[in-house]
Amino acid sequence: MNNLDSLLERIDPQRIPQHVAIIMDGNGRWANLKGMPRSAGHAEGVSAVHCAVEFSSDMGIKYLTLYAFSTENWNRPQEEVDTLMHLIGWAIERELPDLLRNNVRIHLIGDIKRIPDEARQRLINSREATAHCTGLNLMMCLSYSSRWEITEAARLIAREVAAGNLNPESISEDNFASHLSTSPAPDPDLLIRTGGEERISNFLLWQIAYSELYFTPVLWPDFDKSTYAEAIIDFQSRERRFGMTSAQVNENI
Ligand code: IPE
Ligand code: IPE
Ligand code: MG
Repeated sequence: MNNLDSLLERIDPQRIPQHVAIIMDGNGRWANLKGMPRSAGHAEGVSAVHCAVEFSSDMGIKYLTLYAFSTENWNRPQEEVDTLMHLIGWAIERELPDLLRNNVRIHLIGDIKRIPDEARQRLINSREATAHCTGLNLMMCLSYSSRWEITEAARLIAREVAAGNLNPESISEDNFASHLSTSPAPDPDLLIRTGGEERISNFLLWQIAYSELYFTPVLWPDFDKSTYAEAIIDFQSRERRFGMTSAQVNENI
């Protein structure tokens, strides 16, 4: 039995996370270690995305949210930004037949209007082409930051109040969350960050209030099904108490 098979045996199919979010970090360091340019790391990262999508589908995960490009990433050298934008547009177009075959629906999260025309059009095409798909929901976060998203939600709510369509007294947590760009997806059960850094880097700050966090030193281009399976096994060993006591949680099972 190979390593992946023995890991798969340890996964409880009854307790698969419904929503997994991933901070895909470490492409640049992966390339540096191999004496290659950072762009080679990003290109290799596309294969890891393919693998993560396929594994999520196979596991029956309903939502996979991938942090592909942050608001702050616009501050990288222009050449790297251009390469990344080109790669994102190229990769989504290349992956489209496979996404359709696997019944994967694409959602775009972030300030998409900042994405250069060619890549943006390819992204929008893939969102439209997969709109009928009912399997995995793949939420691609591009030009995204959580503070941007929360500020946008506040603006939308303020407009509704100003127009007289919303009473400030009726703003609840659920109402606020319904204005976030991840709505109506449930909050992530599991947040994975590759690349060894243990920080959130402006990702899903509202939505991860009770997510289980999993940090791995594996660099994103090396992320494979075994690394993913290990994260799910670790997730399944956690007790999610949501503020209650352990005894209460076990009573409710
Ligand atoms: C993640 O890898 C990809 C993006 C942020 C777009 P990095 O490019 O951040 O790689 P490191 O962290 O420098 O190794
Ligand atoms: C987070 O990675 C953003 C993405 C993976 C898209 P960064 O490499 O930008 O994060 P920091 O700068 O190390 O916090
Ligand atoms: Mg990084």
